[in-house]
Parts: sequence; structure tokens; C-alpha cells
Amino acid sequence: MQVRKAVIPVAGLGTRFLPATKAIPKEMLTIVDRPTIQYIVEEVVASGIDQIIFITSEGKSAIENHFDFNFHLDAVLKEKKKVVLGEELNNISNLIDIVSVRQKKPLGLGHAIWTARNVIGDEPFMVLLGDDMVLSKTPCAKQLLDLFDEVGESIVAIQRVPMEETPQYGIVEGDKIDRDNTYKVTRMVEKPAPGTTDSNMAIIGRYILMPEIFTILDKTTPGHGGEIQLTDALLALTKQRGMYAMEFEGTRFDAGDKMGYLKAIIAYGLRHPALGKQLKEHLQKVVATL
Ligand code: UTP
Repeated sequence: MQVRKAVIPVAGLGTRFLPATKAIPKEMLTIVDRPTIQYIVEEVVASGIDQIIFITSEGKSAIENHFDFNFHLDAVLKEKKKVVLGEELNNISNLIDIVSVRQKKPLGLGHAIWTARNVIGDEPFMVLLGDDMVLSKTPCAKQLLDLFDEVGESIVAIQRVPMEETPQYGIVEGDKIDRDNTYKVTRMVEKPAPGTTDSNMAIIGRYILMPEIFTILDKTTPGHGGEIQLTDALLALTKQRGMYAMEFEGTRFDAGDKMGYLKAIIAYGLRHPALGKQLKEHLQKVVATL
């Protein structure tokens, strides 16, 4: 079984980032020189996936346009002899095969993934959240695919968080297996109340799921916050088939959150080949004058 398709839900309202996200999708906010979503699509491409399915909603067409060919811009850049820039733009539209499915109401992440059922069919697939960025040596998606090749079951990417932050995440409990940073999941809980778990293994926005998740989501009733929670369906999938959790190598940024976004700009800016050195010197000067 091979993972050929990646679902990227981008239909959320982005309320944490208002007013910036009133007219612009949060996935289109810029990190250095490209929108957040482009980094995620590039991660998928670098991991060898064949097709991306965006789960979109009203007001998100800028995302589809970004990965489309723009005839007008192409003609203008050719006329102005801006060849390199023109090629760079064309490369974005040629990155990978992309299709979009509409989530008609923002009923939660579980519901967003369920809307992809007819495009995915009966095969395992990857999910990457449209505002979760991972800076790593090996693309995070590839790290998950490598584990999938070994275990052939669903996988969630996890990171350790401070205990007091566990109520903000889906938390997994599990038993360590004979492989670095990998666990067999025993329990999962969405945004646990303080003191209800002693695990600090938080689920972040990368998953590989077996197609049985769709029949489970069919029957999943609204949970925390009145939304169809993916975590509830993941727990059912864990009981039905089993699930692995992998502490990935890399640093994750929640770019849909103001502080996470600022941290991402600094981290990606410092690694930028043309801007990194200058930015570092500037930051050092700014910090020294505080
Ligand atoms: P978030 O929890 O970040 O929700 O969703 P949100 O609505 O986008 O943002 P806030 O919390 O209001 O600021 C995680 C991912 O799931 C998608 C989002 O687009 C994001 O990629 N999502 C969420 C959907 O596609 N549909 C939904 O109904 C909910």
C-alpha cells in the first residue's frame, strides 16, 4: 500500500488571526517571500506524494489561484523580459497535481477531512494542516511516510509540549516501540482538562490515515466546541486498527497563531540564503538595544 494523496484542509475561519484574516486566508500570509501554504505544498512535493486535495471554503480562492497558471502575469513578465521571475511563478503552478473540494460549513477538522472521501477512495492518505509548518532536515511528511513503509498503519506526528499547555492540544498516550521516537497509541483525548492525563505528547498537523477513518467520521457526532473532532475519530480508528505516534525531527510552527507566525518568520528568515546573515545581525542589534 502506497500513500499517493495528501489532504490539506484550509477551510477554517482563522479567527485567531483577525483582523488580518478578514479578507485574506491565513494560509496566504507571507513567511519571508512566499505564503505559508507554499511551504507545506513544497514539503508534500519533496516527500514524493502525487496529488494534493485542498479542502476549501468561501473566501479561499486566493489559495487555488496561487497554484494556478496566471496568463496575464506570464505575458507581462515576458514582455518586460523578467525571465527568472516568470519561471519561478510557472514552477509554482507545475509543482504537483492539485484538486479542490469545498467544505460547505466549517463543522470542524474531522468534517473537513470527511469531505475528501470520494477523492481519496479506498487507500491510505496523508493529512497536513494548512497552517502548521515544520522546519526539518528531512521533510516531516517524508519522516511519516518512512514509518508507514515499516508499520502500514495510521500515524500521527507528535511533539512534547509543556504539561500546562496540554489543554490546547489533542494528546496521545502510548507505549514506546522498538524504533526511535515511535509509540503505539493506547489513548487519545482532545484538549484534556488539567490533571486528566500525564502525557505531554501533543498531536500536530501531520497524519497518515487508513481509509476506514471515513466510515468512522460518518458516525462521529460533534464533540468539543460543537465541531466534528478528528481526535474522536482517531481514537475509534486506534481501537479498530491501531495507530502509531511519531516524535518527528524538526521544529513546528503554528502559523495560524500570532506568536507562532512571528517565530516562523524569524526562523525561516534566518535560514534564508540571501537574507539570513543580514537578519541575524539586525536582530542582534535590536536585542542589544532593548
Ligand atoms: P484551526 O484549529 O486552526 O481552526 O484548524 P481555524 O478555524 O482555521 O482557525 P482559528 O482557530 O479560528 O483561528 C486547523 C486546520 O483545520 C482546518 C483549518 O483551515 C486549519 O488548516 N479546518 C478547521 C477546516 O478546514 N475546516 C474546519 O471546519 C475547521
